[in-house]
Amino acid sequence: MSLQILLSGASGAVGRVIGEVIEADSHFLLAGLASREQFFEPDSEADVIIDFSHPELLARVIPYAVRRRLPLVTGTTGVNPALERKLVDAAEHIPVCYAANFSLGVNLLVRLARQAAHTLDKGFDIEILETHHRRKLDAPSGTAKWLGQAVASARGLDFDGSAVHDRSSRREPRSRDEIGYQAIRGGDVAGEHTVYFLADGERLELTHRSTDRQVFARGALAAATRITEQRAGMVDFADLVLGKE
Ligand SMILES: NC(=O)c1ccc[n+]([C@@H]2O[C@H](COP(=O)([O-])OP(=O)(O)OC[C@H]3O[C@@H](n4cnc5c(N)ncnc54)[C@H](OP(=O)(O)O)[C@@H]3O)[C@@H](O)[C@H]2O)c1
Repeated sequence: MSLQILLSGASGAVGRVIGEVIEADSHFLLAGLASREQFFEPDSEADVIIDFSHPELLARVIPYAVRRRLPLVTGTTGVNPALERKLVDAAEHIPVCYAANFSLGVNLLVRLARQAAHTLDKGFDIEILETHHRRKLDAPSGTAKWLGQAVASARGLDFDGSAVHDRSSRREPRSRDEIGYQAIRGGDVAGEHTVYFLADGERLELTHRSTDRQVFARGALAAATRITEQRAGMVDFADLVLGKE
């Protein structure tokens, strides 16, 4: 039987791709849509909600999901602490999967980077390089920060204390306890992240490259498929789709 999905943010760039993947796969059925102008029917038949929208729409989706006892998979970013609290409160009643990046490859990259930072000694300096399209507003990317948090905590370092974003005014060698971030902007690059581990005589580079939004759609649909078997609570995306570490 098909998984019946309510799609929030259906008119958006990611939502449209999710809609296309649903249409093309008989395992899934589009049971309802929400965007700025429309909202799900009060009682449409459904198994799960996927939301890639805007915090204002997510704020309406959360109570709907709780009232209908539907699991919620959301990738909406820019969620403030109050809305994050609402997600956590909702998770007392329904399973909630909330992730900043729904790419399976990026989630595995975070795990591999954490493992490398833990395994390799401090003779390996860590630097993170990311490349994105020319329209991107923020730097470093949220994913670069997430990678930085993973490797910093694996080394027992504070994320903010170890981060170095600009060396232009410094006249001193690099310390063992710093993690450098570099951002390249240009063209239509969907997203590339490399974590460097640089030692005397050798260098390990862990790289992930995204080429289109299908990766988020596939990740969200993989999570939606599995979350229906979960109990109420916050469900970790990587644990759900890659298995527990
Ligand atoms: N976690 C991940 O892996 C991941 C990956 C990519 C993107 N994202 C996030 O997913 C979200 C959607 O991204 P996108 O690129 O698809 O954005 P988008 O193209 O701007 O689409 C946004 C969607 O939200 C709706 N919306 C926007 N403002 C609204 C408001 N004030 N009230 C109600 N609805 C509103 C839009 O409806 P209308 O069309 O009616 O305006 C549209 O359906 C963003 O938060 C983005 O950062 C997450």
